[in-house]
Amino acid sequence: MAQAHPEFPTLTVSRHPAILHKLALLRDEATEPKKFRELVREISWLLGYEALADARVSAIRVRTPLEEIEGSELADRIGLIPILRAGLGMVDAMLELMPTAQVWHLGLFRDERTLRPVEYYNKLPDRATVDLCLILDPMLATGGSASAAIEVLKDWGASRIKLINLIAAPEGVRTVASAHPDVAIHCAALDRQLNERGYIMPGLGDAGDRQFGTGRG
Ligand code: PRP
Ligand code: URA
Repeated sequence: MAQAHPEFPTLTVSRHPAILHKLALLRDEATEPKKFRELVREISWLLGYEALADARVSAIRVRTPLEEIEGSELADRIGLIPILRAGLGMVDAMLELMPTAQVWHLGLFRDERTLRPVEYYNKLPDRATVDLCLILDPMLATGGSASAAIEVLKDWGASRIKLINLIAAPEGVRTVASAHPDVAIHCAALDRQLNERGYIMPGLGDAGDRQFGTGRG
């Protein structure tokens, strides 16, 4: 249900009907923050499920009530890196999928004038303690925030990194893919373009404001 994109080899855009259905509700300007948060969580779960299809497992022995068999357990130590603020809404769903994942918060906001990311919070330990890092952020617009997050993680020693976005713009995918061809990007939709204020069109507006009810005057 996920397809690699013909123009961007590192991008996978989900085609799952459940994601498409929920995404249309998420985009709707009439969707209130409570429902918006639920949808962010549900779509994140489905995207995470697809993005983890190649996570490594190791064999374990399991005794059913009838006999012993060989089962599997997740072998990769997984780190979730939500980009504050909007990425916070994706964390719980990912923790449902991978209860043993570690969560490392990274605070970045986009300067509205320059559109460049500004780092204001970093709770990462001194060096990487996980095998696979999943960066969580609903929106990939210019790609500045995602690139900054990837650079922080690479400096930290992360080797396998995936970026999970709900909606991506071609400009952002291009920026991340050319600087970081080793980072797989998973999203629910690749939209048309950015507007002159750096917003994704048609997009959903400001993902942080819509989750947390801010920016409404
Ligand atoms: C949004 C979004 C990304 C960033 C994407 O965050 O959640 O982090 O913009 O834009 P870019 O690809 O052009 O860098 P924002 O800066 O609005 O902060 P917020 O999550 O606190 O609202
Ligand atoms: N950040 C958002 O929240 N929305 C956009 O469209 C672009 C960046």
